[in-house]
Amino acid sequence: MNKTVICPGSFDPVTLGHLDIITRASGMFDKVIVAVLVNSGKTPTFTTEERIQLLNDAVSGLPNVEIVSFKGLLAEYCKQSGIDTIVKGLRAVSDFEYEFQMAIANKKLNPNLETIFLTADSDSTFLSSSMVREIGSMGGDISNFVPACVHDRIVSKLRK
Ligand code: PNS
Repeated sequence: MNKTVICPGSFDPVTLGHLDIITRASGMFDKVIVAVLVNSGKTPTFTTEERIQLLNDAVSGLPNVEIVSFKGLLAEYCKQSGIDTIVKGLRAVSDFEYEFQMAIANKKLNPNLETIFLTADSDSTFLSSSMVREIGSMGGDISNFVPACVHDRIVSKLRK
């Protein structure tokens, strides 16, 4: 069976935690679609195009990963595209309630949809895009938090 899964998120910007989940998913499934989406509760710092470009560069070594972006519901996109599995990373108990709510809501909208959680690598449990934005914008060192190939671009945007 040829299995395609989707990894949705804001990716504002991509972190090593995201890359870890995407890399592990790419080893488990035939194809991984990474979807850069609108989270109506957040105002992004990086434009959609910037987030896509950063992700494209970060996953350039993973041939079965594709970056997409669309406006609208994830559950609807999955229905239209024949995707039945969402893969997300779970960092800590603090993530659980929010992720659980989204998984249930997506299943209500599209009953064929399952959400699978991969536990975050122990080096990434503390890591978030918002922490990267805050540290980077105040001149802190984010080199341990974001993929090396996109580090300089993230830093230059955050320091503007
Ligand atoms: O990285 P985030 O911000 O936690 O990801 C949340 C995201 C973007 C996956 C979620 O907000 C989403 O799926 N947005 C697309 C619109 C949608 O389907 N909303 C209903 C989610 S239950």
